[in-house]
Amino acid sequence: MNRPLRHLVGAVASVLLVAMIGMAEPGNAQSPQANVPPSLRNFDFGSVAYMPSVVCGACHGDIYDVWRESVHAKAYKDPLFQAGMREAIALSGEGITGICITCHAPATLMVTAKAENDLRIAEGIGCDFCHSVKGADLEQFGAFDIGPSNTAYGPLADAESPKHETVYSEFMGTAGYCATCHEYQSRAGAPILTTFTEYAQGPYEQQLVACQDCHMPLVMGTTVGEHIKRTGRTEFVGFHAIPGGRDLSQLRRALGLELVAVTPASGSVSVRVNIENRAAGHWLPTGMPSRQLVLEISTRWGDRVHSREVVFGRKVFNADDELLTSVARMILEGAKVSIDTRLRPGQSRNVVQVLPAPQDAQVTLVVRCFYRSTEDPDAPVEDIHRIERSL
Ligand code: HEC
Ligand code: HEC
Ligand code: HEC
Ligand code: HEC
Ligand code: HEC
Repeated sequence: MNRPLRHLVGAVASVLLVAMIGMAEPGNAQSPQANVPPSLRNFDFGSVAYMPSVVCGACHGDIYDVWRESVHAKAYKDPLFQAGMREAIALSGEGITGICITCHAPATLMVTAKAENDLRIAEGIGCDFCHSVKGADLEQFGAFDIGPSNTAYGPLADAESPKHETVYSEFMGTAGYCATCHEYQSRAGAPILTTFTEYAQGPYEQQLVACQDCHMPLVMGTTVGEHIKRTGRTEFVGFHAIPGGRDLSQLRRALGLELVAVTPASGSVSVRVNIENRAAGHWLPTGMPSRQLVLEISTRWGDRVHSREVVFGRKVFNADDELLTSVARMILEGAKVSIDTRLRPGQSRNVVQVLPAPQDAQVTLVVRCFYRSTEDPDAPVEDIHRIERSL
């Protein structure tokens, strides 16, 4: 595969990072036409300017199968997002949805159809959107340099496709490409999404490790199906699941949790825990301020539970100093962000808590951490790490 320099460097970095954060699962090869509805087979690309992803899947089957399960593919249908949009509409009227769907269903920038009856919008962030982006003005919201065309922009310098034009894009391999949707200020100028800034201030940009190197490492799989593949092409593709904080196996490697010391005193116990951002290229947690990393330390005996919580995250307030917990209100009203307790890249922190632990009882100490969203605080959570010990 004739990838330009960054991709060769990136390939080496990816192998290391995959080993480190272990997020890559190869796509399973399938009959390439299996996913494609009969009406869409043998589609004439010249006749329609913007394609639903299933059409691309006819040839790019491995990539399609992995993308289909990704957070990006669910960005519009996601029930949390739909609830957020309803809240935004209730607060500010229908017009507001334009802001939300620019990032969650960006096909709306290129097609005018209504979401309910258009697959291209309902499918969230699809192939044709991402591969039509030529550039972007990062100073302005949603300012993609994009237009419907028969050209796919990508990382391969020598791609040849019978169905569409191909153009090598250096931009697509850069952090600036992801920043168009992963950096955002509220209407009142509060920094809501700052992943790109966090990354640019951290060590990875200087080491030439881009978002793509960690989130889209090269994995086993074919760029196109066997029926159309050129001989001599290597068997690696960029991992289109683009996993992040909703992927537990990756989180477990990225976040370190260690029980450092347990010191009993009369009727209580002092617990020292170390928590570390080992492998995230930005602060942890990143993304929406609604996402919080919670460290919970508890002692339990009989039916008694005593717990303390330490939250790693940010707080967003409106102009009246009211705490905002929903994404819709953060975007519409957020005026300032404060109390940022997140972990910088490579940073580790000691947390000490003293909890009751009667000497005459069978006490169990439980230390666990998990992600929680203020958007849906009662949703069940899954432990990233859990340490249990009898005292
Ligand atoms: C969120 C944006 C995004 C979406 C959605 C997306 N891609 Fe990609 N794709 C990329 C990026 C970025 C790269 C280059 C990765 C790199 O530079 O390491 C890429 C690489 C590719 C390549 C080159 C071969 C490879 O994988 O290295 C092909 C082909 C491709 N994508 C097809 C697709 C198809 C088909 C879909 C839909 C099923 C899709 N992409 C969805 C961003 C996206
Ligand atoms: C009829 C089969 C077919 C269909 C359908 C198809 N492609 Fe491709 N595509 C190819 C082939 C073949 C290549 C070249 C692969 C190579 O050179 O190894 C390619 C290459 C690409 C590349 C790499 C371009 C580069 O320069 O890095 C991207 C990105 C891509 N396709 C995106 C898409 C998208 C998006 C769609 C749907 C809108 C799509 N393709 C539909 C066959 C197809
Ligand atoms: C068109 C806008 C857009 C682009 C371009 C985009 N993203 Fe996203 N991304 C989103 C949205 C919206 C979500 C959240 C979806 C949700 O939560 O419903 C998301 C979610 C994610 C997640 C979270 C996944 C998880 O498991 O929690 C990661 C990681 C991610 N994106 C990385 C990237 C990277 C890396 C790139 C560049 C290659 C990129 N994104 C390009 C809009 C975009
Ligand atoms: C050094 C590797 C590395 C780099 C570079 C990197 N990330 Fe991440 N990213 C991770 C890991 C590991 C996680 C999972 C831990 C977490 O949730 O922070 C993650 C999580 C995320 C999430 C999910 C946050 C959530 O709330 O669940 C998003 C979104 C994201 N990254 C986007 C990006 C973007 C955009 C870039 C480039 C500007 C980037 N990442 C650069 C490793 C990296
Ligand atoms: C600049 C791009 C952008 C805009 C504009 C945007 N979002 Fe998002 N949204 C994202 C990204 C990126 C994530 C995922 C971040 C992460 O994984 O932490 C996300 C996540 C979410 C989530 C999930 C939060 C959670 O805690 O899991 C909700 C709900 C949401 N957005 C609703 C909305 C609503 C409602 C609007 C419009 C008022 C909107 N978004 C506008 C990019 C955007």
